[in-house]
Amino acid sequence: MCPLPLPLLLLIIPIVRTQYISPIPSHPASTEISAIYHAPNSWLSELSAPKISAVNTSAFEWWYFDAISATNPNVSAAFTFFTASPSAFPLAPRNASSIVWSVGFVSLPSLSGSPGEPGEGSGDEDSATHRARQSGSEGRVVSEIGVSGEVEGEGEGVVLGDGRGWNVGFWEGLGGWVASFPSPPGSPLGQGMGKSRVKPAALFSGQQHGAPASTARYAHRAAASAPSGTNIDVWVGWEGSRISGRLRLENATSPRTACSTTSRFDPSLRLGPIGWANIVPHAKASVDLVVDGEVLGFEGYGYHDKNWSERPFHTQIRKWFWGHAHVGPYSVVWFQATPQNGTVPFGSASILKDGVPVLGGCEAGIVSVQRLGSPASPGFGVEVVMRGVRLVVSGTREVAGDGVRFFRWAGLVQGVILGDDVGGGVALFEEFEL
Ligand SMILES: *[C@@H]1O[C@H](CO)[C@@H](O)[C@H](O)[C@H]1NC(C)=O
Ligand SMILES: *[C@@H]1O[C@H](CO)[C@@H](O)[C@H](O)[C@H]1NC(C)=O
Ligand SMILES: *[C@@H]1O[C@H](CO)[C@@H](O)[C@H](O)[C@H]1NC(C)=O
Ligand SMILES: *[C@@H]1O[C@H](CO)[C@@H](O)[C@H](O)[C@H]1NC(C)=O
Ligand SMILES: *[C@@H]1O[C@H](CO)[C@@H](O)[C@H](O)[C@H]1NC(C)=O
Ligand SMILES: *[C@@H]1O[C@H](CO)[C@@H](O)[C@H](O)[C@H]1NC(C)=O
Repeated sequence: MCPLPLPLLLLIIPIVRTQYISPIPSHPASTEISAIYHAPNSWLSELSAPKISAVNTSAFEWWYFDAISATNPNVSAAFTFFTASPSAFPLAPRNASSIVWSVGFVSLPSLSGSPGEPGEGSGDEDSATHRARQSGSEGRVVSEIGVSGEVEGEGEGVVLGDGRGWNVGFWEGLGGWVASFPSPPGSPLGQGMGKSRVKPAALFSGQQHGAPASTARYAHRAAASAPSGTNIDVWVGWEGSRISGRLRLENATSPRTACSTTSRFDPSLRLGPIGWANIVPHAKASVDLVVDGEVLGFEGYGYHDKNWSERPFHTQIRKWFWGHAHVGPYSVVWFQATPQNGTVPFGSASILKDGVPVLGGCEAGIVSVQRLGSPASPGFGVEVVMRGVRLVVSGTREVAGDGVRFFRWAGLVQGVILGDDVGGGVALFEEFEL
């Protein structure tokens, strides 16, 4: 697939006012830089904007997007757009010609059965699994690193946005994303956390039937505060790449920072020593990819976050557990890490029910993650415990990692959330230990 960023950008820029354009050169800056760990509001492009003033060899920043099939944990895709050199982030490609690079991981379904074989050929099976069964192909993970500039051009990146409802990232030659918040211009975007949640559809249909203008204005506000939100299109692929295509996240739930609670957006972007914004805790995902010539299409759950620091990753973090699970009406995001300069882990966690936050915070002990088995061995899992929550996430397949320090798995989820017995869900989760 040939990426079409330039026409896309040309289309977008004249229509909406661009508040910031941040070019990211291919070579690291040789200066001291500064990082931002505070967001004045929860607007999409505010959270998505680059948070380091320039990328020197001590700094890293990344924008991460993933999707997992709702019916088969072995079907997932994750794309990360990085700006980092190896001295700042241990997994960065050595000796690359640009600090602008990307990583894609795609897990393809196998023939060898799905959990409990839910009725062969039943309508539940997604198209990817079905096709794999028919073609008899082996399940496997395909990963690919792209370095901008080694593919084409100067190897630059650019991130732009209007400080409000939209944001675009473009990694030259590799791919990028377009994110927008589908609200009318002038509406109070992104102020929704904790506000009343009026069904926008109901209000808009009332407006059609001649409701007064004040109702229409209220409807706009309600639309902005309702959980139906940001849409993001991520595209990847270049001449000769193994992975190409698109990941679409729709109707995302409200963004979250580490210490945001169910009722309050916390403006701090710190999660321990590094920066973190969980821009999309949960979304509907549709994925259309071509992997080694094989078509992979699936629907499921999507997730997006970004991390950064002006200091090298490995000088800040010793170990972490992270994951997101989608089970029954719930979606859960957890993060627990141990800093390099201490032994007490810090964490953040959130739970949504039907897209509405029901638990969230960063206080000590909010989440406790225990590993079950070894991350390098089959059957690795984690137990995630929060107040009123006990989830067992059982890995079905390792979907990313370097085999030494970094392990990301996909798996099945079972347990109790706030008194409800839940099962049959899917999760992506990882352990990182330096
Ligand atoms: C990058 O910036 C950070 C923060 O100002 C500084 O501590 C570090 O020394 C800089 N690194 C280089 C290689 O200039
Ligand atoms: C890094 O890449 C350059 C250019 O490709 C090459 O000349 C050099 O030997 C490489 N250095 C290392 C350490 O691989
Ligand atoms: C998932 O993948 C693993 C490893 O590739 C395989 O053993 C397992 O049977 C697969 N499960 C499903 C549901 O396809
Ligand atoms: C660890 O470093 C952070 C800054 O990165 C600092 O705020 C914190 O106090 C330090 N903790 C210890 C135990 O030294
Ligand atoms: C950083 O992003 C990754 C996704 O690539 C996620 O695993 C993790 O929660 C984030 N962690 C921090 C501390 O920002
Ligand atoms: C968006 O999500 C919300 C809650 O997650 C749901 O109630 C609503 O129906 C969804 N809207 C669309 C258009 O999918």
